[in-house]
Amino acid sequence: MKNWEQTYLQYQPRIPEPELMEEPNQVVSYANADFESAHSMIMNLFQNRLPLKFSPHSVLDLGSGPGDMSSRLFQMFPNANFTFLDGSKLMLDFCEKRLSTFDLKKRNNKMVFKNELVQEFVPESSYELVFSNSLLHHVHNPYEFWSAIQRSIDDDSFTFVCDLLRPNSISEAHHLVERYAKNESEILKNDFLNSLLAAFRLDEVTEMISNIRMNHKLNVEIISDRHWICYSKPK
Ligand SMILES: C[S@@+](CC[C@H](N)C(=O)[O-])C[C@H]1O[C@@H](n2cnc3c(N)ncnc32)[C@H](O)[C@@H]1O
Repeated sequence: MKNWEQTYLQYQPRIPEPELMEEPNQVVSYANADFESAHSMIMNLFQNRLPLKFSPHSVLDLGSGPGDMSSRLFQMFPNANFTFLDGSKLMLDFCEKRLSTFDLKKRNNKMVFKNELVQEFVPESSYELVFSNSLLHHVHNPYEFWSAIQRSIDDDSFTFVCDLLRPNSISEAHHLVERYAKNESEILKNDFLNSLLAAFRLDEVTEMISNIRMNHKLNVEIISDRHWICYSKPK
């Protein structure tokens, strides 16, 4: 057997999962899960990669889910208007409820909650920041996700995408679930496993970026044993 054949056989193939998270038990488990350490690590890296004194007036959060990342963005950018998009109505309701706990009287930011598929999203104008965490692996055709990103930005926008990294084998995926979701509900553990297996490898993401002719604009980086990020290159 040739070397490349051996390497190829080591790859765990992608196993897509349903796009939307709509089952009430699934949504509640996700909304109540403890993502503090992963999400704060991602947000620290995000902040470190932003241009100096970046203060966007318009922020888009694609696949906002129940709004943990959305509320972090909301706190980080006090002068921005926000669009939170999720195809799952139940997830978006959780997101809206979470954001409503902030004292909105002190701020007059506009907040739009869009219950729409990312594939169908056509913004009226571009956003200064386009952010997405953990959506891409849900989308069956990943190029539909990148097209939505391209429709939402202009030359001055900052893009930040983070997602899971597909492990090399199913047993490695099980280890990651045990390591990082040991105390979570069975539903969440199962969703995490399915998400790891539906996720993309770094070489696949790099190939997508190159195919959409964005490789001169975006960096791709592995940031942990289960995450990668993709973000605008400094100008
Ligand atoms: C794993 S959650 C991530 C939520 C949030 N960004 C976070 O970091 O916690 C993925 C979210 O994307 C939504 N989603 C999946 N496919 C979608 C699509 N095609 N269009 C819009 N939303 C989608 C799901 O409903 C779910 O709420």
